[in-house]
Amino acid sequence: MSVLEANKVTKQYQMGEVSVDALDNVSFAVEKGDFVAVMGPSGSGKSTLLHLLGGLDEPTAGDITLANRPISKLSDDEVTIVRRRKVGFIFQFFNLVPTLTAAENVALPLLIDGQNIKKYEPKIGQLLETVGLSDRADHKPDQLSGGQQQRVAIARAFVNDPEIVLADEPTGNLDSKSGTAVLELLRQFCDEKEQTIVMVTHDPRAASYANQVVFLKDGHVIQNLTIGQRSGDEEDIRAIMRVMRELEL
Ligand SMILES: Nc1ncnc2c1ncn2[C@@H]1O[C@H](COP(=O)(O)OP(=O)(O)OP(=O)(O)O)[C@@H](O)[C@H]1O
Ligand SMILES: [Mg+2]
Repeated sequence: MSVLEANKVTKQYQMGEVSVDALDNVSFAVEKGDFVAVMGPSGSGKSTLLHLLGGLDEPTAGDITLANRPISKLSDDEVTIVRRRKVGFIFQFFNLVPTLTAAENVALPLLIDGQNIKKYEPKIGQLLETVGLSDRADHKPDQLSGGQQQRVAIARAFVNDPEIVLADEPTGNLDSKSGTAVLELLRQFCDEKEQTIVMVTHDPRAASYANQVVFLKDGHVIQNLTIGQRSGDEEDIRAIMRVMRELEL
């Protein structure tokens, strides 16, 4: 049973008289525990796809099924609930709330969902420990490095035990050491909790942490590559780069 399915998904943006086909007839499925990387040139529709998969935007045509719910057929309120409870998001620019501490930022999805935070304190502490920030729980984002902020964002994305975590260039704004730490954490959640992850990236090395790479070009899925589970494996990186060259990405 797939955790996530996109079936003939099309997205057109209407800009006055002009319409942009951001995605055209995209279909694919993500199984539980899969770590999928989405690659493709700038403007190929990667972020659009991630937004549709997470219910942040609606497709023009086609269906998206998330955790057995046809999200393209639900009301706005229902989609909001599914998104809050079933999806974790990680963005390129961390998107932490500047006035909240690291621990409060991690708790935010629970707060928004009206949960009793007291009950979750051990879990928040445990997540901060997993991402190596136990000693930074009371720091505000501007008192943290970029890599630390992204690790807070990772803990936040996992706090509600989501069915799926969607990450848009999570290493795009980090130096290579912090980027590797972020990728290793994602891989760890995948290995230890069978966490399902879809990650957009430009970087073949980042994509090598996944076990499946979906290549997008001009809004189409043009290739699907299955790779080994070994993170940062040179052979996988070469295979990804070969496809990128062949497809002129
Ligand atoms: N809100 C919008 N309104 C109109 N057009 C949009 C909108 N968002 C994206 N587009 C267009 O849709 C296409 C796909 O954009 P998208 O942001 O998905 O690309 P991307 O693959 O994420 O690119 P990048 O690697 O630069 O982030 C582009 O041609 C873009 O100009
Ligand atoms: Mg993008």
